[in-house]
Amino acid sequence: MAVSIAQVTAEHHHDGFGLFTPTPRLSWRFNPTTVKNWEQASYDIVVTRPGKDEECYHVESSQSSLVPWPSSPLVSRERATIRIRAAGKDGSTTEWSSLTIEVALLHRTDWSTSAKLISGPPHGPEPKRPFLLRRTFTKPASLSAQARLYATAHGVYEVEINGKRVGDQIMAPGWQSYHHHLHYQTYDITALLEEGDNVIGVHVAEGWFAGRLGRPGVPNHWGERPAFLGQLEIGEQVVCVSDASWEYLYSPILLSELYNGETYDSTAYDPTWSTTSPRTRALGSAEEVGFPDAELIAPELPPIRRVMELKPKEIITTPSGKKILDFGQNFVGWLRIDKDIPGKPGDTNIIRHAEVLELGELGTRPLRSAKATYTVKLGGTTRGLETKFTFYGFRYAEITGYDEFTLDDFTGIVIASDLRRTGIFECSHSHINRLHENAVWSMRGNFISIPTDCPQRDEKLGWTGDIQAFAPTANFLFDTSAFLSSWFQDLAVDQKDADGIVPVIIPNPPKQPDGRMKRPMAIWADCAVLTPWDLYNAYGDTKQLSDQWESMCLWLDQGLPRDERGFWSTASPQYGDWLDPRSPPDMPGNSPTDSFLVANAFLIHTTRIAAETGSLLGHINKATKYTTDAARLTTLFLHEYVTPSGRLACDTATTYILALAFNLLPDHQLLTARARLSHLIRTDRFRISTGFAGTPLILPTLARNNMLNLAYRMLQEADCPSWLYPVRMGATTIWERWNSMLPSGSINDGQMTSFNHYALGSVCRFLHEVVGGLSPAEPGWSIANVAPRPGGTVRSAKTKFDSPAGPYECEWALDVSNKMRTRVCVPPNGRARLRLNGVDEVVGSGEYLFETVWEPEGEWPPTAIPGPQRNVVESSFIP
Ligand code: BGC
Repeated sequence: MAVSIAQVTAEHHHDGFGLFTPTPRLSWRFNPTTVKNWEQASYDIVVTRPGKDEECYHVESSQSSLVPWPSSPLVSRERATIRIRAAGKDGSTTEWSSLTIEVALLHRTDWSTSAKLISGPPHGPEPKRPFLLRRTFTKPASLSAQARLYATAHGVYEVEINGKRVGDQIMAPGWQSYHHHLHYQTYDITALLEEGDNVIGVHVAEGWFAGRLGRPGVPNHWGERPAFLGQLEIGEQVVCVSDASWEYLYSPILLSELYNGETYDSTAYDPTWSTTSPRTRALGSAEEVGFPDAELIAPELPPIRRVMELKPKEIITTPSGKKILDFGQNFVGWLRIDKDIPGKPGDTNIIRHAEVLELGELGTRPLRSAKATYTVKLGGTTRGLETKFTFYGFRYAEITGYDEFTLDDFTGIVIASDLRRTGIFECSHSHINRLHENAVWSMRGNFISIPTDCPQRDEKLGWTGDIQAFAPTANFLFDTSAFLSSWFQDLAVDQKDADGIVPVIIPNPPKQPDGRMKRPMAIWADCAVLTPWDLYNAYGDTKQLSDQWESMCLWLDQGLPRDERGFWSTASPQYGDWLDPRSPPDMPGNSPTDSFLVANAFLIHTTRIAAETGSLLGHINKATKYTTDAARLTTLFLHEYVTPSGRLACDTATTYILALAFNLLPDHQLLTARARLSHLIRTDRFRISTGFAGTPLILPTLARNNMLNLAYRMLQEADCPSWLYPVRMGATTIWERWNSMLPSGSINDGQMTSFNHYALGSVCRFLHEVVGGLSPAEPGWSIANVAPRPGGTVRSAKTKFDSPAGPYECEWALDVSNKMRTRVCVPPNGRARLRLNGVDEVVGSGEYLFETVWEPEGEWPPTAIPGPQRNVVESSFIP
């Protein structure tokens, strides 16, 4: 199998169309190979730019990721074709691989001065009715070149030209910190245009920009008037811009709200409205509402798209006689109605969405104040109808107003930011596989333009603590490089607005009534330092790290409120070990673990990561300062919280986990700390007693501290709270609370009972790195660690990661006599540091097979320590 290039990419852009830099760095990933130890010696790049001679560059370098743009800077709208081939040290050469790129509008001045945000008339009371905008323009016969539409909105929009939908994006331009950044989209509309008259029509709705956000929630965080901005060019000649010459019309969508859902009037839909002979007359002219103050950015991250379709599995009739579709999978998106629902004007069809059933009926309590309802006024066509400008998190859809439906009449449309899947994990344990699959579904459903906490209730917000916990898992499962770095641009600006405090939600809705913006929270705010570092480790891009450096320093030097010793000030409360299962349902922050101990442990860890970042980026003075700070704070921590022998002031698993994970203890205290942690885990009978702080770290930390058997035992625990309890209860996504659904089948009393919250899916890091055995040994996976550690009753596993170099794979299986067969694949130009029993070597590309003898690490199953109440039911694990 000769070495070949799988894909060429520009920056972290998903397809290279609509780049926002004149000098895109180029990367190429290789296909898997059996060729051993292939290392790149040089590469050739041929750049073809219109009107210029072909440029050929030969570079002696082993770098295949993010190499500098070789040519002179590109200009706005410029297209170029890039061909790349790589040559190995062995003298072999790959075939050429190519990528066509196109630059978007790089400068504000590329936008016509006549282009304005346009809206309908000012609105009445909230929420705002969506509206349509329309204009006829001419394509002169003389212009036959490529046509482009550059478009965005305050709110959300969708464009049609001559009755046909433009692009496949959903809820464009997505969610940004709109006072600072506004993404615009580039569309190739060449094929949609006809000679002579053409019509462009735009749907506009309030979206995140002007809709209600939060709980109880206020609207209009960034402005009151949803509006559209567009510039249509043919062969670089601007032929139409959004201005007051456009017409304004009512939309058949009567309401569209992020939390409450959409209402659609099928009798008001005119399929000709965006064609040259529309039936519907305009209500008036559009109003110009200025040009965006925010920086206009062509985004790198892929758009939200329909990524999958699901057919319902079953129609359930509830005890009260309601009819409910069950999709068998909790997901994010909406239904498509696949038939013309009979009905006359005045009749309605109502679809209510929920994630669970409670006592056999639709379980809407977890939605809190969100109505999550799609209402269709009947009498017109309904076939093909879908929600347009919001989404629901659901598995069940209750249909009223049409009883005779069949499974064929509806299809589930799954939406997500269309990230490339990079990580696969599978093992011999079916429950663990389902747990992993649940994390994938929760990531899919919560990566909707930004990383959100949950997709169903009155939040759908970019909580920083959640992604801080989940990022190492996310970065493995999907290519998050552009997605997260784009979100970090917003974090940095919102943080500046909050005087250096990192808001707990990004984008930070500016009109929150409760002063949330100024609420500094460890773990959540530490995301500003920890997550860019995770991103750097996953993708090896120092530019992404340096873009974040100012924000890191701002947090540590200014935003973080300290006492006179440099520890966290205790003046305001902390979320701490949020959602510790022992905290009361209505007080999820009341964990038995001291929230300031947690905050200070994270402070030391965060300071150390900042120090490492500083020294990597060459900010030596800052790096030295942070190193000194971290050392001083560690001494303070030991003085404040640790006994001389290594017991901790707060006797909980989270405390020990943080002390061990963040290397806060000197060697002579480790034995005591480990023994106490083991004791606590065994007395808890392997059930979870940690929250947001401890849970993401517990299994990897046990594995690193010679307690691998305890890690597997916890992983395989059957009873609540445990990772597999929800799986046993039929979960198809990760729950917010271990017991969001109680064993009785009723929903937990608390407020935090989302059934689609990725944070606790952070356990997958352990699956990928320890069970599967794959992790980056160097940032960007130029070298991978391959060190699978079987345990528990898991007898085989297969893990694959498509890294910036190409796919790494590790597959292992134990036979009855504990012989371990391991197959390892390393991509061209990659290397792996292999660690198996009796094997410790670094290998280059190729496929390798090993046969070793597996020696169990620790007793199995480890024993629990009985409590004083002997009658307490022993816990059990799922073999
Ligand atoms: C969110 C969480 C978040 C938390 C912090 C919740 O409402 O859903 O995931 O991190 O609030 O308070």
